[in-house]
Amino acid sequence: MFKNLRLRLTIWFVCLSAVAHITTTILTGVLFHNQLTAAIDSELAELVAEHLQNIDYTDGHLSLPTATRSFSAKPIKLLASIQLFDANGNFVQETGAPGVTTMYPRATEVPLHGHDLRSLSRRILDHGQLLGYLQVQLPTDARERAESDRLLMLVITFPVLIALLFICGYYFTAVAIKPIEETFSILREFMINAGHELNTPLSIAQAALDNLDRKGAKQADVLKKVSVIKLSLTRMRNLVDDMLLLAKLESDKATTRTFKVLPFHDLVRETLEHIHPLLEEHGIELSIESTDNVFVRGNMFQLQQMLTNLLQNAITYNKQGGTIKVSLKSTDQNAQLTIADTGLGISEQDLQRIFDKFFRAESSRSKASGGSGLGLAIVKNVVEAHRGSIKVDSELNIGTTVVVSLPAVAQPANTHTIPTNS
Ligand SMILES: Nc1ncnc2c1ncn2[C@@H]1O[C@H](COP(=O)(O)OP(=O)(O)O)[C@@H](O)[C@H]1O
Ligand SMILES: [Mg+2]
Repeated sequence: MFKNLRLRLTIWFVCLSAVAHITTTILTGVLFHNQLTAAIDSELAELVAEHLQNIDYTDGHLSLPTATRSFSAKPIKLLASIQLFDANGNFVQETGAPGVTTMYPRATEVPLHGHDLRSLSRRILDHGQLLGYLQVQLPTDARERAESDRLLMLVITFPVLIALLFICGYYFTAVAIKPIEETFSILREFMINAGHELNTPLSIAQAALDNLDRKGAKQADVLKKVSVIKLSLTRMRNLVDDMLLLAKLESDKATTRTFKVLPFHDLVRETLEHIHPLLEEHGIELSIESTDNVFVRGNMFQLQQMLTNLLQNAITYNKQGGTIKVSLKSTDQNAQLTIADTGLGISEQDLQRIFDKFFRAESSRSKASGGSGLGLAIVKNVVEAHRGSIKVDSELNIGTTVVVSLPAVAQPANTHTIPTNS
């Protein structure tokens, strides 16, 4: 698909470049022609000025000295035809090379034996009285030769130029479409992973439903299957919610318009209260080391999501009877939140990938946790959207410490209080 696109883009590039090249060639050709013509005209004007001085006027007759050729300094002037006409435009005399002995009042080009002659005339005046005309003609062969040489060179170099444009275009389109290709492969991978993640709860729910369909199922069995279906639906719901949130975060990353100054300490306390039942369920002890009053500018829902995900991980991947220590400090210009658990830990290898979408460490606990593998990807996006940073230190079987730093802001005059959902 991309190979085809690359070829199409290259062909477009070559065609447009060729059109641009041909247009500029035509325009510069016109300029070149005009310049060469102007050069001939200036030669003609010089010749006219030179010969005007040599005209003899006796007894009402105009004449030119016949030895005109010998005075010429430039070789081109040897090819000039010098012509005299009377006041009525009738031909009188011609010296130099043969020309077209017709009077042309304006500068023009006239054909002679398959060649063109450029012709220029001037009035011959004596005290304001018109005596006649002096006309000079020069062949335009040199101009035509220069033009056809230029054209020949352009025609010869054109295929070379097209070949070079094609090679360069083919190379640069590869560079240009690389990010598109990467985005496509990320999207494809995301879809495969999402499909895979949805497939598991779907299969479980399907199997449970098939079982329910059978005749003679006991009431207790039915209830069991219904709870399995409910759990599968919850998993799917969580996965879809996470996917939608992540998509929204990724597209709104630069949107800080909705951000408000929030008491981060209140948000942390709120979330700790919410996850309390989960702590009891897992038999984990939580200690709060410090909660400095610190304000951040941000989106309340996103920050709550970030805190929930981090705390859920600290609980889910902890050991029975393990502990979690939470501290919130106001350091220089930052709100620094530390969540340290005494859980399974993460291997050095996995540590590089924990923020990847759908990544879960190989431990059976991670697979069975019911998580989507999107939690930390969401956390990372939230932190980045808030111009903060996140650091994870971990040691297998010892525990994990996550440190989130967000830029702190001054306490506003009328501080918001966080509404409680419960
Ligand atoms: N506190 C932690 N202790 C040990 N492993 C963790 C911790 N936090 C995250 N992980 C590992 O990182 C993986 C990705 O985490 P996350 O993105 O939240 O996805 P999940 O939905 O699996 O929780 C987890 O599956 C787990 O293997
Ligand atoms: Mg998680």
